[in-house]
Amino acid sequence: MTDGLPVPDLAHGTGVEVGVSGGSYEVVVGSGLLARLPTLLPNNARAHRYAVISDENVAPLYGSAVLEALTSTGVDARLYSFPPGEASKTRENWSMLTDAMLDDGHGRDSCVVAVGGGVTGDLAGFVASTYLRGIPVVQVPTSYLAMIDASVGGKTGVDVRAGKNLVGSFHAPRAVFADSDTLATLPDAERVQGLVEAFKHGAILDAAYLEWLTTAADMLLAVDTETATEAIVRSVRIKADVVTRDEREGGVRQVLNFGHTVGHALEAATGYAMGHGTAVAAGMLLEAELGERLGITEGGTRAQIASSLSRLGLSLDSVPSVDLEAAMGFLASDKKARSGRPRYVLLRRLGEVEDEEAWSREIPDSLVRDVLAEIA
Ligand SMILES: NC(=O)c1ccc[n+]([C@@H]2O[C@H](COP(=O)([O-])OP(=O)(O)OC[C@H]3O[C@@H](n4cnc5c(N)ncnc54)[C@H](O)[C@@H]3O)[C@@H](O)[C@H]2O)c1
Ligand SMILES: [Zn+2]
Repeated sequence: MTDGLPVPDLAHGTGVEVGVSGGSYEVVVGSGLLARLPTLLPNNARAHRYAVISDENVAPLYGSAVLEALTSTGVDARLYSFPPGEASKTRENWSMLTDAMLDDGHGRDSCVVAVGGGVTGDLAGFVASTYLRGIPVVQVPTSYLAMIDASVGGKTGVDVRAGKNLVGSFHAPRAVFADSDTLATLPDAERVQGLVEAFKHGAILDAAYLEWLTTAADMLLAVDTETATEAIVRSVRIKADVVTRDEREGGVRQVLNFGHTVGHALEAATGYAMGHGTAVAAGMLLEAELGERLGITEGGTRAQIASSLSRLGLSLDSVPSVDLEAAMGFLASDKKARSGRPRYVLLRRLGEVEDEEAWSREIPDSLVRDVLAEIA
């Protein structure tokens, strides 16, 4: 939220505004933003002190540099880190971080700065949303996934025994600064996983964007700065538009779950050995198949998505086989289920979601089972 404070100087980045109840915040995408944080942070989230939170991969690469940039300009800041990976998105690390901040005397006039991938953003966001009943957070995403998806929309949380992201909150950031230069060090496999969400944005709401992504895939995988920046901006615009219309996922925000009902079940059925992007790619193909068999999705849509995803090296053939009963079991316990029935977002055609039944619908188990049998 801008709170009447100056909006960022956009000379070196593109800004996208996200509306939230009672205000808005800016997502700034561009090159060289990290170096400008000592100015951008105080302008967007004025604080007595900043708690910079990064995982142990990103802390030495960027967290320390952010800390140094802040402290060398007289801004009070501390760096907190935790081991990398999804396994760290826990209540235990939430305890560790909030205790460390309490020990260091952070008050209500502190601000959390989440520098890292989606795990850092979700965990640090949850720390901020609960610390002293809530202090501001600024998101500084460093992975494609976090820039394209996780840092926008205000969802925060941790994974618990019963499932992923089941304990958390909505806590909109004060601002998001996505510095495309940081993608240079992102491992290749993480690039593929994150870009799948951009392809999803195209598939649900912008067929021309999906076509552009398909052509640009090699440049995106190589992180050509200009191409990467364009993809991030276009994806952020799409996600920002959706979450501005539906902050709490009561309606249209569900469209972002295309590929995710099946995708989550595949991830869970493989004990999370399957990456989220790989699972969502398979989920989009199988949900397109479901839509086509129901006569809701235009024929040939699945083939078009398949041809796009192949440019990222992803296809149903690259998915390890999945235990069908386990996958059906996880579908039945989907956290987005209503009255115990999982719901699916279906396309009408590429770039358009079917909205007759409130953006998502139930599908008979027998049909789902038939379609999932393809990868069992
Ligand atoms: N809040 C939301 O709306 C939302 C949306 C989508 C996903 N998510 C969450 O995001 C998480 C996944 O995010 P992710 O894929 O970024 O995972 P991640 O944060 O674990 O990052 C992936 C890996 O890349 C490393 N890394 C990140 N940036 C790097 C860089 N610039 N250079 C080198 N290494 C770097 C990390 O250390 C990690 O090892 C999941 O927990 C998911 O639930 C949240
Ligand atoms: Zn996803």
